[in-house]
Amino acid sequence: MEPACACGEQRATGRAAGLGLLAIVLCSSLLLNALLLAHHPFLSPSRLLGDGGSSSCGLSWALQAAREAEAVAAVGCSGHGQVFLDGIAGEDGRPGCECNACFGGPDCSLRVPNCTADADSGNPLFLEPYWRRHAAASAVVFSGWHRMSYVTTESFSFQSVELERQIRLLHTAVGNAVVDDKHVIFAAGSIQLINALVHALSPDVNAASPPARVVANAPYYQAYRVQTTMFDGREYRWGGATAQWTNASRNSTTDEGGFIEFVTSPNNPDTMLRKPALGGSTAVIFDHAYYWPHFTHIPSPADEDVMLFTISKPSGHAGSRFGWALIRDEKVAKRALKYVSDSIMGASRDTQLRMLGIVKAMLANLHSKDDIFAFGHDVMRTRWRKLNAVVSRSRRISLQKIPPHQYCTYFKRTREPSPAYAWVKCEREEDEDCQGALLKANIITRTGVFFEAGSRYTRISLLKSDDDFDVLMERLTDLVNAEKYEDAPGSRAM
Ligand SMILES: Cc1ncc(COP(=O)(O)O)c(C=O)c1O
Repeated sequence: MEPACACGEQRATGRAAGLGLLAIVLCSSLLLNALLLAHHPFLSPSRLLGDGGSSSCGLSWALQAAREAEAVAAVGCSGHGQVFLDGIAGEDGRPGCECNACFGGPDCSLRVPNCTADADSGNPLFLEPYWRRHAAASAVVFSGWHRMSYVTTESFSFQSVELERQIRLLHTAVGNAVVDDKHVIFAAGSIQLINALVHALSPDVNAASPPARVVANAPYYQAYRVQTTMFDGREYRWGGATAQWTNASRNSTTDEGGFIEFVTSPNNPDTMLRKPALGGSTAVIFDHAYYWPHFTHIPSPADEDVMLFTISKPSGHAGSRFGWALIRDEKVAKRALKYVSDSIMGASRDTQLRMLGIVKAMLANLHSKDDIFAFGHDVMRTRWRKLNAVVSRSRRISLQKIPPHQYCTYFKRTREPSPAYAWVKCEREEDEDCQGALLKANIITRTGVFFEAGSRYTRISLLKSDDDFDVLMERLTDLVNAEKYEDAPGSRAM
């Protein structure tokens, strides 16, 4: 029998050109059909490609890996889980379904009754359905000998020149950062760059100057405090919330040391666009993890001296551990690069290759019907609307206030709010511990204490999967509905 796809044969036969053309048309058509069928939920990829690999279309070593990747991706897990290539192997030697929270059973079809909603982590799984829809564009295949070296051969560096170019293109196309006069430094997640940048902006170890104080305006992302105190460098120390320094910074004398202020915009946890709290000669690190059109309107491109970005929030690939800094000053950039080199010798080359595919796929679809930011904004806006509809009935909890329509230069129109987090305040006097109050209602959140904002506040993540969000809405609805009965005459408040 003829192989289903005989692409290689055109070269060998030397028959009439018409026959060759026919073979090409046949091959292309079969390949197209195979691709369409590959996305059909009920057809297994092994059937498509044939177990013997006879339908290889010129591929040899990549076929088996492609088969395995498609085989696991094709398992549905009832729409409430998925199989991963590196999942724990079952008795049959194959990885099984890993179920979303509140679902169980071998195929994730069983709903756990009265399940607790976990809205703690900022895990950006809301974008998983986007990549499932763009499976072909985001798939990466690479050989066992891909970039085994510590450095890339073309530039003898730890950073892929092409990935850097694509990241610059993405910022320019989205209009969220000015890149032309900036150096780009890669790292294993932007979390690694927190300390790299503190180090890079601190006085030289050999300099006589006193250590810099690292500060942030509360409520702030707790990793700034955790990282700074953990590494405990001689050139810097954690200085706490900016409130205690707002006057001191202006009066600071040389023996007090300077300040390094973290400004997160949009802020984690309250999602507000922010400016520095301290003035004067304070060095500022702008963390723009969420400065992308699915989370906020983009009033203008950010153009600060030191900026932090991550792939985790715009594309959702938090597990790839990839972030970058945009730095204007060459000396600061070199110090940050040296930090990354000395600690991990650059971000993983495998990750960089995967990120190249992801960034290219994002770029290729901008402003089309497959725009990742339009998709992301739609999901997050819908979640915020639903959350507001429930919480607006409550007198017990309230949410941060966001203007209903703000002009976005990316979408070229006003857009509705779509924040990554809800910053919840417990309004009742007895709910001093807001996280505890929500936990009693089976909702796990992150206490305001982490963000140095006090226990009356707590953060709800809106970034997780659809299943997570649905369970969250169920528990919140129960909580708010219960108020009706508690408020009734003769009933006792929870
Ligand atoms: C404000 C902010 N900065 C940085 C990070 C770290 O991101 P990455 O996954 O790149 O380490 C996060 C993660 O949640 C964040 O919220």
